[in-house]
Amino acid sequence: MQNDISEIIFTESQIQKRVKELAHEISDDYKGKQVTMVSVLKGATIFLADLMKNLSIPLSIDFMAVSSYKNTESSGIVRMIMDLRESPENKNLLIIEDIIDTGLTMHYLCENLKTRRPKSLKICSLLYKPARKIKEIKIDYLGFEVPDKFVVGYGMDYNEIYRNLPYIGILKPDVYRRK
Ligand code: IMP
Ligand code: MG
Repeated sequence: MQNDISEIIFTESQIQKRVKELAHEISDDYKGKQVTMVSVLKGATIFLADLMKNLSIPLSIDFMAVSSYKNTESSGIVRMIMDLRESPENKNLLIIEDIIDTGLTMHYLCENLKTRRPKSLKICSLLYKPARKIKEIKIDYLGFEVPDKFVVGYGMDYNEIYRNLPYIGILKPDVYRRK
Protein backbone atom coordinates (compact mmCIF):
# COMPACT_ATOMS: atom_id res chain seq x y z
CA MET A 1 0.00 0.00 0.00
CA GLN A 2 2.69 2.49 1.05
CA ASN A 3 4.56 1.81 -2.21
CA ASP A 4 1.62 3.21 -4.18
CA ILE A 5 1.98 6.64 -2.56
CA SER A 6 4.24 9.14 -4.32
CA GLU A 7 4.19 11.77 -1.59
CA ILE A 8 2.73 12.24 1.88
CA ILE A 9 1.07 15.65 1.86
CA PHE A 10 -0.28 15.66 5.42
CA THR A 11 1.22 13.53 8.16
CA GLU A 12 -0.79 11.96 10.94
CA SER A 13 0.30 14.63 13.42
CA GLN A 14 -0.40 17.52 11.03
CA ILE A 15 -3.92 16.16 10.52
CA GLN A 16 -4.52 15.69 14.26
CA LYS A 17 -3.36 19.23 14.99
CA ARG A 18 -5.64 20.73 12.35
CA VAL A 19 -8.62 18.60 13.42
CA LYS A 20 -8.24 19.88 17.00
CA GLU A 21 -8.14 23.49 15.75
CA LEU A 22 -11.32 22.95 13.74
CA ALA A 23 -13.02 21.28 16.71
CA HIS A 24 -12.24 24.26 18.96
CA GLU A 25 -13.61 26.66 16.37
CA ILE A 26 -16.80 24.60 15.98
CA SER A 27 -17.26 24.23 19.76
CA ASP A 28 -16.98 28.02 20.14
CA ASP A 29 -19.40 28.78 17.29
CA TYR A 30 -22.05 26.33 18.49
CA LYS A 31 -21.79 27.17 22.20
CA GLY A 32 -25.20 26.70 23.86
CA LYS A 33 -26.58 24.83 20.86
CA GLN A 34 -26.91 21.21 19.92
CA VAL A 35 -25.45 20.11 16.60
CA THR A 36 -26.22 17.18 14.31
CA MET A 37 -23.17 16.11 12.38
CA VAL A 38 -24.18 14.66 9.03
CA SER A 39 -21.33 12.60 7.79
CA VAL A 40 -20.94 11.52 4.21
CA LEU A 41 -20.09 7.83 3.90
CA LYS A 42 -17.63 6.40 3.60
CA GLY A 43 -14.67 8.74 3.18
CA ALA A 44 -15.47 11.15 6.02
CA THR A 45 -15.79 8.56 8.80
CA ILE A 46 -12.27 8.82 10.25
CA PHE A 47 -12.46 12.62 10.12
CA LEU A 48 -15.84 12.54 11.88
CA ALA A 49 -14.54 10.25 14.63
CA ASP A 50 -11.47 12.37 15.34
CA LEU A 51 -13.41 15.63 15.12
CA MET A 52 -16.22 14.59 17.45
CA LYS A 53 -13.83 13.37 20.13
CA ASN A 54 -12.51 16.91 20.30
CA LEU A 55 -15.87 18.71 20.43
CA SER A 56 -17.16 19.97 23.77
CA ILE A 57 -20.78 20.60 22.71
CA PRO A 58 -23.71 18.15 22.84
CA LEU A 59 -24.03 16.48 19.47
CA SER A 60 -25.65 13.70 17.55
CA ILE A 61 -24.45 12.02 14.39
CA ASP A 62 -26.23 10.74 11.32
CA PHE A 63 -25.08 9.41 7.98
CA MET A 64 -25.81 9.81 4.29
CA ALA A 65 -24.24 8.02 1.40
CA VAL A 66 -23.99 9.48 -2.08
CA SER A 67 -21.99 8.51 -5.07
CA SER A 68 -20.64 10.54 -7.95
CA TYR A 69 -17.37 8.83 -8.50
CA LYS A 70 -16.16 6.37 -11.05
CA ASN A 71 -12.47 5.59 -10.45
CA THR A 72 -10.60 8.89 -10.24
CA GLU A 73 -12.88 11.04 -12.40
CA SER A 74 -16.11 12.54 -11.20
CA SER A 75 -19.05 11.40 -13.32
CA GLY A 76 -20.97 14.58 -12.53
CA ILE A 77 -24.07 12.60 -11.64
CA VAL A 78 -24.81 12.42 -7.92
CA ARG A 79 -26.88 9.54 -6.62
CA MET A 80 -28.33 9.14 -3.12
CA ILE A 81 -27.49 5.69 -1.85
CA MET A 82 -28.51 6.02 1.78
CA ASP A 83 -30.55 8.70 3.49
CA LEU A 84 -30.45 10.02 7.06
CA ARG A 85 -31.97 7.90 9.82
CA GLU A 86 -33.51 10.87 11.69
CA SER A 87 -35.44 13.82 10.29
CA PRO A 88 -33.17 16.87 9.92
CA GLU A 89 -36.06 19.29 10.42
CA ASN A 90 -35.34 22.08 12.90
CA LYS A 91 -31.81 20.81 13.64
CA ASN A 92 -28.45 22.55 13.42
CA LEU A 93 -26.86 20.46 10.69
CA LEU A 94 -23.14 20.38 10.12
CA ILE A 95 -22.14 18.36 7.06
CA ILE A 96 -18.85 16.53 7.55
CA GLU A 97 -17.09 15.70 4.29
CA ASP A 98 -13.67 14.34 3.42
CA ILE A 99 -12.96 16.33 0.24
CA ILE A 100 -14.72 18.82 -2.01
CA ASP A 101 -13.48 18.48 -5.56
CA THR A 102 -15.84 19.69 -8.30
CA GLY A 103 -18.38 20.66 -5.61
CA LEU A 104 -21.15 18.71 -7.33
CA THR A 105 -21.66 16.28 -4.44
CA MET A 106 -21.79 19.04 -1.82
CA HIS A 107 -24.10 21.14 -3.96
CA TYR A 108 -26.47 18.19 -4.25
CA LEU A 109 -26.32 17.48 -0.50
CA CYS A 110 -27.02 21.09 0.46
CA GLU A 111 -29.92 21.46 -1.94
CA ASN A 112 -31.38 18.20 -0.69
CA LEU A 113 -31.02 19.06 3.01
CA LYS A 114 -32.29 22.64 2.63
CA THR A 115 -35.66 21.39 1.39
CA ARG A 116 -36.09 19.57 4.71
CA ARG A 117 -36.08 22.76 6.77
CA PRO A 118 -33.13 22.42 9.12
CA LYS A 119 -32.66 25.22 11.67
CA SER A 120 -29.20 25.87 10.24
CA LEU A 121 -26.85 24.25 7.73
CA LYS A 122 -23.07 24.52 7.65
CA ILE A 123 -20.25 22.65 5.92
CA CYS A 124 -17.05 21.23 7.35
CA SER A 125 -14.66 19.62 4.89
CA LEU A 126 -11.22 18.28 5.66
CA LEU A 127 -9.92 18.99 2.14
CA TYR A 128 -10.71 21.26 -0.78
CA LYS A 129 -9.30 20.84 -4.29
CA PRO A 130 -9.99 24.24 -5.91
CA ALA A 131 -8.49 23.39 -9.30
CA ARG A 132 -11.49 21.36 -10.41
CA LYS A 133 -14.28 23.55 -9.12
CA ILE A 134 -17.58 23.44 -11.03
CA LYS A 135 -19.96 24.53 -8.26
CA GLU A 136 -18.97 27.31 -5.87
CA ILE A 137 -19.34 26.06 -2.29
CA LYS A 138 -19.09 28.16 0.86
CA ILE A 139 -17.04 25.98 3.19
CA ASP A 140 -17.57 27.11 6.79
CA TYR A 141 -14.78 24.96 8.24
CA LEU A 142 -11.90 23.78 6.07
CA GLY A 143 -8.91 21.65 7.05
CA PHE A 144 -6.54 22.08 4.10
CA GLU A 145 -6.45 22.93 0.40
CA VAL A 146 -4.92 20.28 -1.82
CA PRO A 147 -3.34 20.34 -5.30
CA ASP A 148 -5.05 18.79 -8.32
CA LYS A 149 -3.85 15.26 -7.55
CA PHE A 150 -5.74 12.17 -6.47
CA VAL A 151 -5.27 11.75 -2.73
CA VAL A 152 -5.93 8.75 -0.48
CA GLY A 153 -5.70 7.81 3.19
CA TYR A 154 -7.32 9.01 6.41
CA GLY A 155 -10.64 7.59 5.19
CA MET A 156 -10.24 8.35 1.50
CA ASP A 157 -9.98 5.53 -0.99
CA TYR A 158 -9.16 4.49 -4.49
CA ASN A 159 -11.44 1.57 -5.43
CA GLU A 160 -12.12 1.05 -1.68
CA ILE A 161 -8.43 0.58 -0.78
CA TYR A 162 -6.07 2.89 1.22
CA ARG A 163 -8.70 4.22 3.67
CA ASN A 164 -6.73 2.92 6.66
CA LEU A 165 -3.54 4.88 5.95
CA PRO A 166 -3.17 7.27 8.92
CA TYR A 167 -1.80 10.04 6.68
CA ILE A 168 -2.98 11.69 3.43
CA GLY A 169 -0.87 10.92 0.39
CA ILE A 170 -0.86 11.34 -3.35
CA LEU A 171 -1.61 8.13 -5.21
CA LYS A 172 0.91 7.29 -7.94
CA PRO A 173 -0.87 7.72 -11.28
CA ASP A 174 0.43 4.36 -12.53
CA VAL A 175 -1.77 2.71 -9.85
CA TYR A 176 -4.91 3.75 -11.68
CA ARG A 177 -3.35 3.37 -15.13
CA ARG A 178 -2.39 -0.20 -14.23
CA LYS A 179 -6.00 -1.39 -14.45
P1 IMP B 1 -17.06 16.23 -6.05
O1 IMP B 1 -18.53 15.95 -6.23
O2 IMP B 1 -16.34 16.27 -7.36
O3 IMP B 1 -16.80 17.47 -5.23
O4 IMP B 1 -16.44 14.98 -5.35
C1 IMP B 1 -16.57 14.75 -4.04
C2 IMP B 1 -16.31 13.30 -3.70
O5 IMP B 1 -15.41 12.66 -4.60
C3 IMP B 1 -15.64 13.23 -2.36
O6 IMP B 1 -16.59 13.10 -1.35
C4 IMP B 1 -14.75 12.01 -2.48
O7 IMP B 1 -15.50 10.87 -2.10
C5 IMP B 1 -14.41 11.90 -3.92
N1 IMP B 1 -13.07 12.47 -4.24
C6 IMP B 1 -12.79 13.62 -4.88
N2 IMP B 1 -11.46 13.81 -5.00
C7 IMP B 1 -10.90 12.75 -4.40
C8 IMP B 1 -9.52 12.37 -4.17
O8 IMP B 1 -8.54 13.05 -4.53
N3 IMP B 1 -9.34 11.20 -3.49
C9 IMP B 1 -10.36 10.43 -3.04
N4 IMP B 1 -11.65 10.75 -3.23
C10 IMP B 1 -11.91 11.89 -3.90
MG1 MG C 1 -16.88 11.51 -0.12
